[in-house]
Order: sequence, then structure tokens, then C-alpha cells
Amino acid sequence: MVIQRIFMVLFGAISYSTDQMVEHINNLPREVRKNRDLSVFDVVSIDDLSNDDIHLIFDVAKKFKELGNEKFSLLKGMTVFCVFFEGSTRTRASFELAGKKLGADTINITSNGTSISKGETLHDTAQTLNAMRANIIVVRTEYSGIPQFLAKHVGAAVINAGDGMHEHPSQGLLDAFTMIEHYGDIAGKTVLVVGDISHSRVFGSLVRILPRLRASMRVAAPKTFVRNGFREAFPHVQVFQNVEEALLGTDIVIALRVQEERGGGKGLPTLREFSKTFGINERRFALANVGAIFMHPGPVMRDIEVHNALMTKGTTKILNQVENGLAVRTALEWLVADRTDKKVKLYDSI
Ligand code: CP
Repeated sequence: MVIQRIFMVLFGAISYSTDQMVEHINNLPREVRKNRDLSVFDVVSIDDLSNDDIHLIFDVAKKFKELGNEKFSLLKGMTVFCVFFEGSTRTRASFELAGKKLGADTINITSNGTSISKGETLHDTAQTLNAMRANIIVVRTEYSGIPQFLAKHVGAAVINAGDGMHEHPSQGLLDAFTMIEHYGDIAGKTVLVVGDISHSRVFGSLVRILPRLRASMRVAAPKTFVRNGFREAFPHVQVFQNVEEALLGTDIVIALRVQEERGGGKGLPTLREFSKTFGINERRFALANVGAIFMHPGPVMRDIEVHNALMTKGTTKILNQVENGLAVRTALEWLVADRTDKKVKLYDSI
């Protein structure tokens, strides 16, 4: 009896201190968040986010990054579905890992082996996940506009993980976060995006977020990658056909892969020619401002849009972008799924 009591006291003390420990860890990002909520339920486009939303995401992401491999129970009991109908390494792995870090149950769904291959619509698939009480649906699809459509028809928070040629908002956020981490502030900095801007959803998000942070934007691309109406749609972006001219006076250089899966290769004689005329090599990168950084959203086609030797330089931030992607996506998942104002998303189930 006495031994049993000692065990109970000991066990009670251990469980009490473990609970307190978990609460202490959970409180660290809460202190930074200060009960702030996003102004939106879904993150489909950078345009959905207010400037306050962007700064809230960055503040919380910075804290999650600082806390490293710490585990939280902030989304305990919640479910994150990562629905990827196109290939992905970085985005899918980081959204899944983010969910696990937050204590959520995470489920991966890809087009192979789902009922989509039997003719079910993506809309019905999403409603099926919704019926399983999904809290977050992260979706990547080759079709522009699908996440927007789904967001209107499910109660779960929808995060766009890349839709066709439209947007990839978490990539735009993590890229901006990486620039700010390096420079402190990017107001007045010049960002040059080189390559296939016409098929790139990453560009779709960069062109929306960077002006909000008061950075100047340039693009350098073959004429075939600059669509009719580009200059009217984005009058704040300077367009260059000569990459060397574009690099002069640049602080941040972002290279984009030729999006062959979306027809990017058809705008070029050959990838080899693109590499010769627009590929960023050490000689070209040296034309940028002293202290400039090089970025790429990945996946990289080495020796095409970026030459191999540049990949391992200290000024190349590609792996910092990947690391920051985890922090930004952890912040996004927590903020969309755990609202402190307890507002509930309204949606049309039909
Ligand atoms: N940048 C990016 O979206 O990479 P993945 O296709 O590997 O997710």
C-alpha cells in the first residue's frame, strides 16, 4: 500500500511536470502571437493577406525557427490533409512536418491511388475530407483556381501549395522571410527574377508580396516568357531581355526553372541556349551589388538556370529557403487552424 502510494505520488509529480513543460513550450509562440489572428480563413493568394497578416506570419515563423526541433501540442486533435496532385519534395514534406511539429494528425494524399483516378471530382474528394473533419487542406494542383474553388466549399482552412501558373503563396512568404532575415528590411532593395516568369506560380506570389514590402522588382527573361499585357499588369516591374544589364544594381537574384511541365520549354530553342543566355554563373552574379544573395525556390536544374559552381557559395540561400519554409508553414498551419477569436469559416457545401 505504501509502495503503491509512493508510485502514485511519483507518477503524479512526473505527469504534472511534463504537462507544465508542454504548456511552457506552447506558450513561447503564443507570447509572440499575442492573440492575433489572420484576417482570412484560407491562404490561396498573397492578395488575400493584409500587411498585418504578413507580419504576423513572419513574427510567428521567426519564433518557430528559433525553437528548432521543439514539439508542440498547439494543434493536438486536429487533422491536416496534404493533397498533392503534382510532384513535390520541399512543400509537401514541410507542410507534413509542420503539422507533426504542432501535434496534429497528418495525412498525405496523392493522385495515384485515390478515387480521383476512378473519376471522382476534386470537389467531391475535398468534401469527403471535410466530412472527416479536416481542419486544414493543403492542396497542390496543375489547375489554376482549384484552391480558390475548394476554399468556398469546405469548412477546413485551405492552403494553396501551388496551383498551375497562378500562385504559390507559402513560397512567396518564405522567400520574402529569407530576404528579410538576411537584410533586416528589404524596403529599397532591388530583386531580380530571371527565367520562366510566364509559367511560374512562384513568380505569381513574388510579384504580389515584394512590392508590399517596398522592394523594387526586375525581371530578365527571353521575350517568349513575357506575356502580352505583362507590362500593363505589373507596371512596377522593370523588364530586361539582357540578364547582364538587369544584374547591375541588384541585391537579390532569384532564378526560376523552365517549367517544362507547363509548356515552358516551347518558348525556347533549347535549354542549352537558355543556359548560355540567361543562366546565372559566377561571372554574371558578380555583376550584382557587393553582398548580393542568390535564391531559387527549387527544384534546381543544375547548369541550366544556375551554374553548378554557384550552388555552394555562401551567398546562395537555397537551403536557407528550405529551412525557412518549415518555419513559415508551421506558422501558417497554426494560424489558420487555431483562431483565438473563435470565428468560424462560412462555406457553401454544394
Ligand atoms: N519550391 C517548391 O514548390 O518545391 P517542390 O515542388 O519540391 O515542393
